[in-house]
Amino acid sequence: MTTESPAADASESTAQAAPDDAAPKDRVIIFDTTMRDGEQSPGASMSLDEKLELAKILEDMKVDVIEAGFPIASNGDFESVQKVAAIVTESIVCGLARANPADIERAAEAIRHAKRGRIHTFISTSPSHRNHILRMSPEEVIDAVTGSVTLARNLCGDVEWSAQDASRTERDVLLRCVEAAIRAGAQTINLPDTVGYTYPSEYAEMFRDMIENVPGADGVVFSTHCHNDLGLAVANSLAGVEAGARQVECTINGLGERAGNAALEEIVMALRVRGDRLRFDSGIDTTHITRASRYVSAITGFPVQFNKAVVGKNAFAHEAGIHQDGMLKDAGTYEIMLPEDVGQGASNLVMGKHSGRHAFREKLKGLGYELGDNALNDAFTRFKALADKKKDVYDDDIMALVDDELAKGSERIRVVSLRVVAGTEGPQEAKLTASIDGVEHSATATGDGPVDAVFNAIRQVAPHAAALRLFQVHAVTEGTDAQAQVSVRLEEDGRIATGTASDTDTMTASAKAYINALNNLMARREKTRPPEALASGF
Ligand code: KIV
Ligand code: ZN
Repeated sequence: MTTESPAADASESTAQAAPDDAAPKDRVIIFDTTMRDGEQSPGASMSLDEKLELAKILEDMKVDVIEAGFPIASNGDFESVQKVAAIVTESIVCGLARANPADIERAAEAIRHAKRGRIHTFISTSPSHRNHILRMSPEEVIDAVTGSVTLARNLCGDVEWSAQDASRTERDVLLRCVEAAIRAGAQTINLPDTVGYTYPSEYAEMFRDMIENVPGADGVVFSTHCHNDLGLAVANSLAGVEAGARQVECTINGLGERAGNAALEEIVMALRVRGDRLRFDSGIDTTHITRASRYVSAITGFPVQFNKAVVGKNAFAHEAGIHQDGMLKDAGTYEIMLPEDVGQGASNLVMGKHSGRHAFREKLKGLGYELGDNALNDAFTRFKALADKKKDVYDDDIMALVDDELAKGSERIRVVSLRVVAGTEGPQEAKLTASIDGVEHSATATGDGPVDAVFNAIRQVAPHAAALRLFQVHAVTEGTDAQAQVSVRLEEDGRIATGTASDTDTMTASAKAYINALNNLMARREKTRPPEALASGF
């Protein structure tokens, strides 16, 4: 449910409200690239199952275009685009390709069965990239634009063309490249600020220049794509929209290369909250924003900073007495949007051990989760166990628990029991029993601290060569009985897998998160290794 935000009140009563409030809003296309540019963030890799789940969330959110990967990059990327294309019915599914036939043909093959597919082909246009990466003259780049877009249009009815590093490209060269792309049949022209260098007025000027001066510009959709190196990605994207762009490329939580991409949730909420100045409509169901943010954070192990706009833990928290007093009198005094608008439950204290399955299912629905029967049963069993241990079960507890269920994937290895000795008198020790393909194995290990002992015990029951790249713990709620949510990232031969788990016992959560990562790593290995290699163990 979407509620009118208090800001509506505020803007109605301010002299700055736009004079044409009744005028219809222009539609801005939301293009999500969390699975492609977002995944390019070091360590942020996602498994196929995770991408499929994310695609469902993005579709529930009514994202217009989902860029599901870069099909030529690997067989895994190809499969992800292909499978996302097979399950998505409403959104356009897009595959990325460089300006060469092999890339474009592979992208076309990956989206072949999409209900609505798009090929997104790009080439660098700036002097820096032309001279140092491509070693091509402007004329050669323009020829490549014509050739690549023509081929893509022969293979797919919907083609987007991007000028990589557009914001650092000479205007005359960019004009000629854009003209060539339009002539060859591209319907969307994306002008990225690839290195996060531009400034809002400068980025806006570039769009105005193209829209006013390129023949055929009125027949295509211009698109923004901004990186956040100077913290300007959202401001630059909105400036592009004000200058005439009608597609915004963005990612959940601003995930992406280096400092990331423009954050979807910030773009969408800025358009919504400041509809008085920005007369645009994104079409996004914003009530799914929190769920998407939590899910992306859980599967990548990238925490959302507490004071992150829109989705941070503190985004709707009011600490100062004067603010709390104002909030009690009228939420609009300090809150420009409602937590419910972005899918944060208004009532936070929720359920206890007497709550039944029906109430649990309804609660999940309210939080934006629709689980199948098996996942619902597992989540309900875990909820009951949690309610036995923890007096107050909050929305955050329930979301952590369901995120665990969704992130579980294949479970060749499972924790059966764990006993840990911690404290000042070492050595700290862990005694673990785990089930591997249905057979129980036990080990006792010591370590430099209890977590190290737990991980050593896992290495004994399931020997493997993967290196630990991330171990991260945070408390889901306040209080000493809070659940610990643990993320673990493992790397083996360039393959990265992340695991998460939550439990009121931090050591149990750590063991489960490590084993979840190990299961995900094995699932990935199985896709790339010949079957006989699997039989030789972990
Ligand atoms: O940042 C960029 O230029 C890109 C392109 C490949 C679209 O991600
Ligand atoms: Zn990018």
